[in-house]
Amino acid sequence: MTHGQDYSALYRQSITDPEGFWAEQAARVDWEQPWDRVLDDRDAPFYRWFTGGRLNTCYNAIDRHVERGRGEQDAIIWDSPVTGQSRRYSYRELQDQVARLAGVIRGLGVEKGDRVVIYMPMVPETAMAMLACARIGAIHSVVFGGFAAPELAKRIEDADPRLVISASCGIEPSGVVDYKALLDDALQMSEGRIAHCLILQRDTRRCELQEGRDIDWDEALATAEPVDPVAVEADHPLYILYTSGTTGRPKGIVRDHGGHAVALCWTLPNIYGIQPGEVMFTASDVGWVVGHSYIVYGPLLNGSTTVIFEGKPVGTPDASAFWRIVERYKARALFTAPTALRAIKKEDPDGEAIKARDLSTLRAFFLAGERSDPDSVRWAEQQLQKPVLDHWWQTETGWAIAGYPFGYESIPVKIGAAGLPMPGYDVRALDEAGDPMPVGELGNIAIRLPLPPGTLTTLWGNRERHHESYLARYPGYYLTGDSGLVDEDGYVHIMSRIDDVINVAGHRLSTGQMEEVLIDHPDVVEAAVFGVADATKGQLPVGLVVPGASFDGDDKALAEALIGRVREQIGPVAAFKHCRIVRRLPKTRSGKTLRGTMRSIANGEDYTVPATIDDPSILDEIAEDIGRIRS
Ligand code: COA
Ligand code: AMP
Repeated sequence: MTHGQDYSALYRQSITDPEGFWAEQAARVDWEQPWDRVLDDRDAPFYRWFTGGRLNTCYNAIDRHVERGRGEQDAIIWDSPVTGQSRRYSYRELQDQVARLAGVIRGLGVEKGDRVVIYMPMVPETAMAMLACARIGAIHSVVFGGFAAPELAKRIEDADPRLVISASCGIEPSGVVDYKALLDDALQMSEGRIAHCLILQRDTRRCELQEGRDIDWDEALATAEPVDPVAVEADHPLYILYTSGTTGRPKGIVRDHGGHAVALCWTLPNIYGIQPGEVMFTASDVGWVVGHSYIVYGPLLNGSTTVIFEGKPVGTPDASAFWRIVERYKARALFTAPTALRAIKKEDPDGEAIKARDLSTLRAFFLAGERSDPDSVRWAEQQLQKPVLDHWWQTETGWAIAGYPFGYESIPVKIGAAGLPMPGYDVRALDEAGDPMPVGELGNIAIRLPLPPGTLTTLWGNRERHHESYLARYPGYYLTGDSGLVDEDGYVHIMSRIDDVINVAGHRLSTGQMEEVLIDHPDVVEAAVFGVADATKGQLPVGLVVPGASFDGDDKALAEALIGRVREQIGPVAAFKHCRIVRRLPKTRSGKTLRGTMRSIANGEDYTVPATIDDPSILDEIAEDIGRIRS
């Protein structure tokens, strides 16, 4: 599996000669026209890759594999324990479906550069919709199904799509989710110019279609003419993916066709050890970046087979789900979030379900999305007797910043570290002034510009926010928003966020956004939300809310109403279930809320009572409350 090269030499080349390095990697992709510049720095600190080049991501992900003899190989395997169904799509079938779907989308007035919002569950049609947009140069924006209608509306308003693609429903262990009803609500809230919605009717629960606006997927596809891929500029946007920032306004991360295809094609064999023709199983959701890169684009660009799993690590029906998939489809790599591993370990501590399966095809188990806790990593190593490899990345980067490149001579694993920097990422821990921290000491993690191909090109419609959020803090660097250190062997350790972002069950959420929802309630004057360490989900949001002086209602009823409000406004994915009504928040005498101290209490860390606090007793009350929640 390993190709015997020295990773450190390769990494050094990527830093000292990025243009040479990436030009070489770009040969993995088929170009209609080669680039003029590998790295275009004319607009620094905004960089572009492969300008002047033309290609199409959908062609690279499907058609070229059919042309070169992979037509009968599985491209997508869909396994859905929640409906009891499974289905395989060969590359040829995928090409046929995607080409005709592209015909439907174009027939609905979508042209190159137009946006298409996709709000769908874990079905193969979701991947087909993404690929069909890419085929005609339309820009897709997938919205995760666990978001409520107002969040969907915000994304529709920001992306201003011509078309929305959705389904009648999704199926969660807690019940059927009416995606179409949520979409109808969102469209009422947003001021878009949506002429059409393309709707996949699922047998589990069909929905009403609005005449004139809604188009039935199956009917439209039955009569559609296939269309060929359209070559676009290398820096033409492929997709927008919204992620949480520090406020209620999500950031639309923009990714291009060229750099993205080149970077992902490097990662499949080199980070995951996956060759063309092999099966990769990424257990995430297509609505997140991990799903974009390693359920859809990465495996297909590489000519491999991807598994789309409509189920959960536990409860569909039990903790054997992932192992069943690996055995049945002979997966070579499994990639999921640590929270899923913890859920499996909790339900099957002795690994009985693991022992019962033939997992001989599996080479390694990859984790990302949040910090991996050492106990769970050791447990998985022991149960699986395979490498368990953490890696660290973000929606913004689209692929790993640090990791253990499995395609290379084995790099010793340090449990607790996210691995070595990946090619093109010059990772530094900086102090407040922007000076490097001594080796092994905690700082703000920043990456020297330029970032490698495949990383964000901008924020949709908001170049200033791109600059202000990532580039302004340390000129010449990209600010990751994470704190951590680089140790004496060059390994990167990621500890926590330096902003108001928390990570709940591998989902990135903004506490600032939850505070905005709480403060919006007429009885609330102040609110603070922070993440409390949780054994399964990593973190859980906890809200402290101060009602107005005139509030004379019941605290419990107010807390329940606020919990319901966050669910309705942001969505079930926020998992906001702990809300406490307090008469005041801990503040300094100058009126600043002590968020840092509350975060330390929440994480069970030692904290010093600041001398400037106006009433220290409130910290004890909060600590007591959090103790109750954690137990
Ligand atoms: N559509 C609609 N609702 C969804 C959804 C989706 N795609 N995904 C999650 N939800 C809902 C869930 O049904 C749940 O609703 P509930 O409050 O009514 O039960 C809520 O959002 C919270 O979901 P989740 O955070 O997933 O928690 P859970 O308790 O249902 O499951 C785990 C716990 C650990 C099994 C689950 O979180 C998991 O598999 N996590 C993996 C995360 C992941 O893959 N992250 C991607 C980064 S790699
Ligand atoms: P997202 O953009 O949703 O992928 O979330 C990215 C954030 O998740 C990062 O900025 C980190 O805070 C966290 N994260 C992702 N992977 C890891 C990891 N392997 N170790 C620690 N934190 C991680």
